[in-house]
Amino acid sequence: MSRKSKGKVYLRGLIELSNICRKDCLYCGIRCSNKKVTRYELSDEQVIELSRYAMDNGYGSVVLQAGERCDGNYIERISRLVTDIKKIRRGGSVNALPLGITLSLGEQTREVYKEWHICGADRYLLRIEASNPELYSKIHPCHTEPQQKMHSYKTRLEALYNLKSLGYITGSGVMIGLPYQKRGDLDRDLEFFTSFGVDMVGMGPYIPHKETPLGKLSFGANSSLPPDDGDFAGYSAEQRLLLSLEMIRRLRSLMPQINIAAATALEVLDPDGRSKAVLAGANVIMPNLTTVEMRRHYQLYEGKSGVMDDAESTGIKLESQMERVGAKIGWFEIGNPEKFL
Ligand code: 5AD
Repeated sequence: MSRKSKGKVYLRGLIELSNICRKDCLYCGIRCSNKKVTRYELSDEQVIELSRYAMDNGYGSVVLQAGERCDGNYIERISRLVTDIKKIRRGGSVNALPLGITLSLGEQTREVYKEWHICGADRYLLRIEASNPELYSKIHPCHTEPQQKMHSYKTRLEALYNLKSLGYITGSGVMIGLPYQKRGDLDRDLEFFTSFGVDMVGMGPYIPHKETPLGKLSFGANSSLPPDDGDFAGYSAEQRLLLSLEMIRRLRSLMPQINIAAATALEVLDPDGRSKAVLAGANVIMPNLTTVEMRRHYQLYEGKSGVMDDAESTGIKLESQMERVGAKIGWFEIGNPEKFL
């Protein structure tokens, strides 16, 4: 067992702000071409209320996640929300610590990232999805301009370097068990994390969604895409779980100091997936705070766990799950990677 897994696990209250997305990633259930999705946006009041809930219940941080948008009103809205969330204090006391704020809002310009950082965003999560540019192009639209431009590997990488140089605690991640993916791609992903010098990683199993072109491949439905010639085609849920846990284990031994999140996607494969991830070396859990009613519409993949839980039952479940694997929850702690302490 790694050093981290015996230690503390930090909580990030996940707020899924909106499922409106301009992108069309071939694996994602909320891609703009999926017309079956009911699109929603939480109100400012709802976001502030959920953040206050996170603060009152001892989650040291919140993560604001949403589909990708870049219109001016939206950018301003995020700036306002970040500023307002930073003002929330436990028990209203001015001396109390503010919440940590992580943003997971996709690719934006350097100026936008800078503005949000100045407003108070501490951390940013932007998965590279697949560090091999060839695999990246196979899982993103690459046939037509401007879609091709919008889904470019180069832009994604530039965005990550911008975040890092602006001083964000920067996180990235990949999907594990993707169609067309080879074992060597996963080795390369680990090398990417170390050479980039990520501060946090959120990586989890790929889970097919039947309303997506990649998902159709796995469900044997008609798909415009070439057949899956990857090493993990036909893998069972258990094999995918083991592969993901193995990646966490390998990463933890390569990067002992960073924050590694137990991806919620793991729970789709195994109700105990998150605990197993903690045993493998994960030290961050992101309980979903989004209201049950909205959460139904934020299905990046199928069978998303906790869909019927409310925030309160999630907290209780978590405490006992962590107790069973001997991990302690860092209640009320921001839980930054050690180099930022
Ligand atoms: N299976 C697993 N993870 C997915 N994501 C999107 N679609 C899927 C899927 N079908 C992940 C992407 C994205 C994160 C928010 O969700 O890696 O970065």
